[in-house]
Amino acid sequence: MSKPVVLVAEELSPAGIAELEADFDVRHVDGSDRAALLPAVADVDALIVRSATKVTAEVFQHASKLRVVARAGVGLDNVDVEAATKAGVMVVNAPTSNIVTAAEHAIALLLATARNVPQGHAALKQGEWKRSKYTGVELQGKTVGVLGLGRIGVLVAQRLAAFDMNIIAYDPYVQAARAAQLGVRLVGLEELLRESDFITVHLPKTPETLGLIGDRELRMVKPSVRIVNAARGGIVDEAALDLALKEGRVAGAGLDVFSTEPCTDSPLFHHDNVVVTPHLGASTHEAQEKAGTQVARSVRLALSGEFVPDA
Ligand code: NAD
Ligand code: MLT
Repeated sequence: MSKPVVLVAEELSPAGIAELEADFDVRHVDGSDRAALLPAVADVDALIVRSATKVTAEVFQHASKLRVVARAGVGLDNVDVEAATKAGVMVVNAPTSNIVTAAEHAIALLLATARNVPQGHAALKQGEWKRSKYTGVELQGKTVGVLGLGRIGVLVAQRLAAFDMNIIAYDPYVQAARAAQLGVRLVGLEELLRESDFITVHLPKTPETLGLIGDRELRMVKPSVRIVNAARGGIVDEAALDLALKEGRVAGAGLDVFSTEPCTDSPLFHHDNVVVTPHLGASTHEAQEKAGTQVARSVRLALSGEFVPDA
């Protein structure tokens, strides 16, 4: 009997590939290339993606044998889960694989914006010794507003507590008692915007959160605020942020994610006080290995009709 076919549409760790190859016929395609993806899904049982492959209703129309879509990461915003459900396709992800890595990256961006690390680095490599230009700010005693106190938001809050920061959070789905246990005070969105010296975004991308931090909200923040978004592009509206930076209503930003990716040019790149990374939030060897092996296991369970636990 022929083995079930698993189509890997983006880079997956060698450990994940090895687990899949033990049981399945593993094929590869570049999921960002639509013309290649659509014919490639025609006879596959499982499809594995990260962020670049848009798994839309059109993909399900081309994939009559498909039984499972697996996302080697956290966010499922590039998978049309409703269309998957209509097509009878199970959707699984690796919800804990990269949360420590993503939290550490958010903190790296926060520190980079506080201390102008990339700017000082770039200037010195150009032969410029600019000490006063890159004077920064301390974290100690400052207020950080965490938007979204979920898996990653909690890890960020716990780590920032070690910097002696006051931590507030906006997340209407979290109990105040749970937040208090973490030393976090839950507040409304407006209070978070007005009080924070740093804001770090850890929300999923949903119709509710898209543009949540827009022009109106950016007119409520302190002009000294530094904003980090290592969650999803568009939660902080890019045009509104660009304007706020131009008008000096925001002191800096650290951005890992963009409304459209890949993003190699943006008005935001032209601000000296904006630090950017190309969606590196999950990019550590440890996280990629965990994501690869977690999705390989979930695909194996799903294809054999077994219960897939929330890894
Ligand atoms: P999570 O689901 O554990 O936490 C999200 C939190 O947001 C939850 O507590 C939820 O209650 C809250 N929330 C949802 N809607 C809200 C709203 N409208 N207002 C306020 N709070 C709301 O998710 P997570 O694992 O912590 O991931 C957070 C984000 O980070 C996701 O967008 C994920 O895709 C992204 N992420 C990015 C990278 C990267 O490479 N940059 C890596 C991993 C995860
Ligand atoms: C995720 O949602 O897990 C991250 O954005 C990382 C990734 O896309 O690989």
